[in-house]
Amino acid sequence: MYFRVPSTNGETTSALDRTLMYSKFLFVTLRRKDARARATLRRAGSCIARGFFNDFHADEGPNPSSNETVQFLVAATPRPCNDGLLSAECVAHVTTKYRPRLGEIEAELERRLGDAATVRAIDGSMKAPRYTSAALHEYVDKDAAARQSGRSAGNVIIIPMSKTAAWWNMSMLERHVYFYPHMDQEQGGPVAGHAQAAEAGIQTIYRRLYHNPDGYQRADEYDFVTYFECADEHLATFDIVRQALRDERRNPEWRFVIEGPEWRGRRVLRW
Ligand code: HEM
Repeated sequence: MYFRVPSTNGETTSALDRTLMYSKFLFVTLRRKDARARATLRRAGSCIARGFFNDFHADEGPNPSSNETVQFLVAATPRPCNDGLLSAECVAHVTTKYRPRLGEIEAELERRLGDAATVRAIDGSMKAPRYTSAALHEYVDKDAAARQSGRSAGNVIIIPMSKTAAWWNMSMLERHVYFYPHMDQEQGGPVAGHAQAAEAGIQTIYRRLYHNPDGYQRADEYDFVTYFECADEHLATFDIVRQALRDERRNPEWRFVIEGPEWRGRRVLRW
């Protein structure tokens, strides 16, 4: 159903565009690798975490003490490059309903790190699914992997990505078919589509999709940040799913995808 609701600035906005939560991914690249820089990083991490529920404990207790959450991550293998993403040893993923709070956290982190590190931030917003019918919801969510603690599901994969102008030039109704099994006009035959191509990951990969809160097709920004968690034994499944989605014969949607860099790391209690 597509209905319109009043926005906070008085204009009407589509219910599909309404943001449920805001997130910030703070990618931290150390300028120096010495003990002093690492101590500064640890202190800065503990300061920004104050008042936030630590998602490392997700699913370990009854009720989180706050709906503002933080998850600290450390890279498996940071790479020497200058994009501020793949080079990042550490990431803090912060989530709240109140967006200005995230700006404050970013500023505080930068101030506390000083010249020890650089920070690159990517913003995200969680929205209601756009293409997921009741039937698709049943298919992808009925047996979907539940969120686990960082102890059980220690791996994280973050991939920012965008879609091409041709994608955004289609209507939402035209786009939605790509998530379902459908007939592909280019190949002249049936194809799996996004959800079925990704089926192997439904039960084992915990996934979250973040939209760019400021809109799509913005210069030098990504349209989405995709975020995944899984246990060690399911990392191989993630790779299978990723390859299946890239296979345009099974998933023609990928013809419209511009992949960003893939950051891999582990969930930790603190930096
Ligand atoms: C693990 C199994 C996966 C399942 C079951 C799955 C399922 C879905 C579904 C149902 C949607 C539509 C959401 C909506 O209605 O708005 C979606 C969107 C999306 N997925 Fe996946 N997905 C999986 C893995 C992945 C992976 C591995 C990637 C990236 C490497 C990915 C990237 C995306 C992106 C970028 C969108 C948003 C597309 C858009 O709105 O244009 N997904 N996924």
